[in-house]
Amino acid sequence: MLDLKRQYQPLYRELIEALGQVMATQQFILGESVAAFERAAAEKLGVAHAIGCTSGTDALWLALAAAGIGPGHAVVTPPFSFFSSVSAILRAGAQPLLADIDPATYNLSPAAVEALLNGPQSAYVKAILPVHLYGQCVDWTAFARIAKERNLKLIEDAAQAWGADWNGLKAGALGDAAAFSFYPTKNLSAAGDAGMVMTNLEELAERVRILRNHGMRRRYYHDEIGWNARMDGFQGAILAIKLKYVDGWNQLRHTVARRYHALFHAAGLVEAGPYPSHGIVLPQEVRGSHHVWHQYVIRCKRRDELRAFLTERKIGTEIYYPVPLHLQAALKSLGYKEGSFPEAERAAREVLALPIFPELREDEQQTVAAAIAEFLS
Ligand SMILES: Cc1ncc(COP(=O)(O)O)c(C=O)c1O
Repeated sequence: MLDLKRQYQPLYRELIEALGQVMATQQFILGESVAAFERAAAEKLGVAHAIGCTSGTDALWLALAAAGIGPGHAVVTPPFSFFSSVSAILRAGAQPLLADIDPATYNLSPAAVEALLNGPQSAYVKAILPVHLYGQCVDWTAFARIAKERNLKLIEDAAQAWGADWNGLKAGALGDAAAFSFYPTKNLSAAGDAGMVMTNLEELAERVRILRNHGMRRRYYHDEIGWNARMDGFQGAILAIKLKYVDGWNQLRHTVARRYHALFHAAGLVEAGPYPSHGIVLPQEVRGSHHVWHQYVIRCKRRDELRAFLTERKIGTEIYYPVPLHLQAALKSLGYKEGSFPEAERAAREVLALPIFPELREDEQQTVAAAIAEFLS
C-alpha cells in the first residue's frame, strides 16, 4: 500500500545531518528548526502565518479555538472523513452538524450544506469545516459564497491536501484558517506526529501560538486554558527538508494516478459513475481543482470481495472510511442514525484505496490492474 523506505533511502544523509543539528543545539521543542520550517511553509503556500503543532488533530482544535468557536456554537462538517474532523469540534466545546457528501468527489456537498443552513439548526452555526478529502479541494467557489452570504467562518481540514489548489489558490490559503497533518503517510510527512495551522489573520495566528503553549504569553503566566501542542524540533528539521521535495513527489503521484486511469480504461473496467454496478468507478479531478492524489480511491459494488481477492495476492488496499462518522459508537450522542446521510453510507460500502505513492513503479501498477481485471472477469 505504501513503502516509506523508498522515500527515506535517497534522503538518508540529508535527514540524519539535520537531526544531528537539532542534537547539537539541544533545542527539542519548537526552537529554530521549527521556526525555520514555519517560515518556509508559510512562504511556500503564500500564507502569512504557519504555526507548527503536535498533530493534525491538534491543528484542527487550535484553529477552531483560536477562531473563537466554542460552547453555544455549531460547526458544519461532513460525515465521511477521519474522526478528528468531528472530535476537534467537540473538543472545542461546539456542536458538530453533519451534511452529506457529493458522490462524485466524496467531498462535502455545498447543496447539502445550504439545505442544512436553511433549516432550524442554522441559528447556532458559526463555521463550516470542509475536508479536502483524498487530496482534492472541496468546491471552494461555492463554500466561499455560502460563508460570505451567511457570515460564517471557514476552517479547512487540509490534512490530506498539501500542495492541492482551487483555481490556483493553495489549500491552506483558502479559509480563515486551515489545519494540516504531517502524519507519516501524508504527502508531506514527519517521522512521527506533527501538524500545522495556517492563517492570514494576525490575531488568530497569535492566539494559536498562545493556545499551543498552555495559554501563556509570558512564561508561567497563563491567560487562558491552552494545551501542550508544540511541534517537536526533530519534526521541524525533517519537514523543512521534505518541503523542498514535496512538489516533485506530488507530480509523481499525478503520474501514478494517470497511469492507473490509463490501465483501467485499457482493460475496459471503467464505468461512468458515480455509482458502480459491474465494473469500477475511477476518482475524478474536477474542473478548477489541482488534485494531489493523497489517495487513489476506486468504487466497486463488490468492494469487500475485491479487497479480499487483492489481499490474497499480497496487494495492499485500505478503506477510508468503513464507518461514516455519524454511525461511530463514540458519536451516538450526535443523534444521527442509519439513513441520515445516504451518500456517505454508500461510499463507506463501496470505496477502496489502491496503493499510491511517488515511488510506486509501473510494473507494480500493472500487477494491481491485472488483479482487478481478473476479479471482475
Ligand atoms: C482528514 C483528516 N483530518 C484530520 C486528521 C488528523 O491528523 P493527525 O493524524 O495528524 O492528528 C487526518 C489524519 O489522520 C485526516 O486524514
